[in-house]
Amino acid sequence: MFSSRTSVDLTHNRLALALANARNRGVEILDLTVSNPTTADIPYDAATILRALSQPSALKYEPAPFGLEHARRAVAEHLSAHGPRVDPRQVVLTASTSEAYSFLFKLLCDPGDEILVPRPSYPLFEHLARLESVRAVPYPLRYDGAWHIDAPAVAAARSARTRAVVTVSPNNPTGSYVTAAEFAMLAALGLPLVSDEVFSRYALRPRGAPVSALSTAEAPLVFVLGGLSKLAALPQLKLAWIAVSGEDGHVEGALARLEVVADAFLSVAAPVQHALPALLGSRAVAEGAITARTLANLAWTDAHVRGSAVSLLDVEGGWYATLRLPRTRSEEAWALAFLEEDGVHAHPGHFFDFEDEAYLVVGLLTPESTFREGLQRILLRVAEDA
Ligand SMILES: Cc1ncc(COP(=O)(O)O)c(C=O)c1O
Repeated sequence: MFSSRTSVDLTHNRLALALANARNRGVEILDLTVSNPTTADIPYDAATILRALSQPSALKYEPAPFGLEHARRAVAEHLSAHGPRVDPRQVVLTASTSEAYSFLFKLLCDPGDEILVPRPSYPLFEHLARLESVRAVPYPLRYDGAWHIDAPAVAAARSARTRAVVTVSPNNPTGSYVTAAEFAMLAALGLPLVSDEVFSRYALRPRGAPVSALSTAEAPLVFVLGGLSKLAALPQLKLAWIAVSGEDGHVEGALARLEVVADAFLSVAAPVQHALPALLGSRAVAEGAITARTLANLAWTDAHVRGSAVSLLDVEGGWYATLRLPRTRSEEAWALAFLEEDGVHAHPGHFFDFEDEAYLVVGLLTPESTFREGLQRILLRVAEDA
């Protein structure tokens, strides 16, 4: 009766079951998977945000497939301030980055086509692709003290059905930025490039300005994704965007077809579009607090894993850090032990499709006291096991 697109395995894995069990029993769990800034004790410029959302103009409905002109201009100005100049006509507003992916997969792929996605990376790719009857084919990121895109492996992952290559910069969860050379290498494939840059403003190491795929001249088409959920730490407001660049003819063709898709949904609400300039202007409070939190948690991790059997993988940006655990237990066994014996919940690497074991991903957005207590318990458990 139902489509194969929605046929997902709904059985819970052992960790999810153990978590539900612990919560049912009222056990207090230290959650190191925090990724929702609105429930993580992050301060906001609440007065500005609420004022911006209650403008009288929000009472009027003006259907516009790509979004209201002044909202698109606000995004173009934001992108132009941090990279090459973007024209508002290149900007398409969507309700979320997930919706942006679904628009792009509709635009670029027929059922059965493939898109290349990094591995390890954002676990949602597989679902987003399957919902469009598209196959997400992984290409590996390799770690040698820093993360790199494995160019020959990308070429090997490509098939006659490949329609686009996706990058995430900085990547979730590895925190690695895509370099200009890597963007150029991917662009040389001649495929449309989809660059998810939602975390780009959250650098964790001193570095030059992050490179945006918008500066990559060689690709026929480039789609850069961003949105309020990370940039302004406002995921509940449901506003994201696609910036389209590339060769003129391709850009015009892509925008004409994207308009057909966007016009069928008209999904971004008026109040948030009217509020957008003020929301972007007010983001410094939350952004500053998140940067301070993630930097403090990273520094604490760096200092406390030293001399232990746990190591911290290099991370350049974003909201996550990856720990390598001794392989004396499987990744799942470690995560279960932390949960059931120590009351600490963290994601095992396979949640993000790491190729080998044993990794643990911790959310740097976690309030400092919970983060430190949780990590201390993890380090103690590993030390006892040694
Ligand atoms: C790489 C990446 N892209 C996009 C998103 C979410 O964006 P949105 O809330 O706009 O769908 C996330 C959320 O964690 C993410 O990790």
